Amino acid sequence: MKICCIGAGYVGGPTMAMIAKQAPDIEVRVVDMNATRIAAWNSEVLPVYEPGLDEIVKECRGRNLFFSTEVREAIRAADIIFVSVNTPTKTYGVGAGRAADLRFIESVARTVAEEATSPKIIVEKSTIPVKTAGTIKTILAANARGVAFEVLSNPEFLAEGTAVADLLAPDRVLIGGERTPGGERALQTLVDIYARWVPRERIVTTNLWSSELSKLVANAFLAQRISSINSISALCEATEADVDEVANAIGKDSRIGPKFLKASVGFGGSCFQKDILNLSYLCEHFGLPEVAEYWHSVVAMNDWQKRRFTTRIVQALFNTVADKRIAVLGFAFKKDTNDTRESAAINVCRDLLGERAQVVVYDPKVSAEEIRRDVGCADADGARLSVAASAYEACEGAHAVAVLTEWDAFKALDFEKIYAGMTKPAFVFDGRNLLDHAALAKIGFRVEAIGKVV
Ligand code: NAD
Ligand code: UGA
Repeated sequence: MKICCIGAGYVGGPTMAMIAKQAPDIEVRVVDMNATRIAAWNSEVLPVYEPGLDEIVKECRGRNLFFSTEVREAIRAADIIFVSVNTPTKTYGVGAGRAADLRFIESVARTVAEEATSPKIIVEKSTIPVKTAGTIKTILAANARGVAFEVLSNPEFLAEGTAVADLLAPDRVLIGGERTPGGERALQTLVDIYARWVPRERIVTTNLWSSELSKLVANAFLAQRISSINSISALCEATEADVDEVANAIGKDSRIGPKFLKASVGFGGSCFQKDILNLSYLCEHFGLPEVAEYWHSVVAMNDWQKRRFTTRIVQALFNTVADKRIAVLGFAFKKDTNDTRESAAINVCRDLLGERAQVVVYDPKVSAEEIRRDVGCADADGARLSVAASAYEACEGAHAVAVLTEWDAFKALDFEKIYAGMTKPAFVFDGRNLLDHAALAKIGFRVEAIGKVV
């Protein structure tokens, strides 16, 4: 059996590496039109940083895992085609800022129809609006020359930073298919692949639309928990309750559960915001404005939480940060990833620069080039942004330190040394409630945390 995956990104690369590892008899070809990305997948330094991924890629690459730019050739050879291209928020025209931009999905469907000369199973791995399988099938049917296609939905639930662990032992694998004989056969083929390492009871099969919709709903529910606890963090700051204590207390209720209740500077990542905006847009499209508004409030609360963080910094620093040096520790949207997409750090840096601060960023995995690109350094504000090679360098002479990513290494920093080198009074704004606040206060820092009064 031959599998090809179109899209060698954060999802396509790791998911296909896991299939190649678990099924050495299946040839897995990951293709992408981005030649630089493919070259990186074939090099010593992979384009995606994920704990444990290097080992799997090294084990399988050249054996049954291949990375190439030969998209058309891979389509012709494959029995199963995973589509793992990006589905960003549309930035133009109808639905701009909310709807999913499906041009990459459509382009793949057209290329598949042009190239296919034998039956194919098309697997939607990308996150897409419910009913997209219908679009794909229509394009295939209108352009194919007598070739049989089956379309399955198999959304991915991995989280970045834990992708390998999530792929190795997923809570569930979701596969949606049509209840036709051909659809059932295709579904069984994909079930059999995952069943090589995933217990059968964790492989959930549904109809196409339930599967497509469940992915958007899963992300919306997860993000909603974060916005809920973040909204409560503001109330905690006003009332001297402690948000971590509240989260712990409510999380003990087995109906609520302890996960995803960590208050923060705001959620980031390429998907939560985009998928909720998309869900909200879909609700509106289907004539459900109240439902659309309900879900949109999750994103609105997150935007507020990010802005609120910068406002607190400005207020604590005597209402001005102009020309003050602010050390930003962490730029990735969460620890253990080099991904910065929609990171709260981008908003905080921009807002601080807008207040005319001198912003110095340090992140252990994100390059200076990436940080500059994300923040946007074209104007005078951008000129006040710099990138340090270490946390100590970033903090030297700073008026304040803002922790924006929960990298474990930040916990082990020598804060006595950092304090000695800072301008006084020295502030710490812990956007992740990562550090030992009592210890910092003992050193002499003025500490501001999320959802608690230190
Ligand atoms: P990504 O941007 O990292 O990768 C997508 C890749 O697809 C890019 O390298 C791009 O060059 C390639 N591509 C686009 N059109 C192509 C075409 N026509 N031919 C060949 N290559 C093409 O995106 P990602 O983070 O891997 O996400 C992919 C999808 O998976 C999205 O729909 C996303 O919502 C979903 N998803 C992402 C995550 C995550 O953690 N990043 C988790 C679950 C689901
Ligand atoms: C999320 C989901 O967890 C995955 O299941 C899903 O597959 C993926 O989106 C996707 O569709 O792209 P990811 O964005 O990689 O995964 O990472 P998360 O661990 O969910 O974190 C997202 C953001 O929320 C991060 O900025 C994180 O710091 C923040 N977060 C998370 C909190 O602020 N508090 C929490 O309690 C949990």
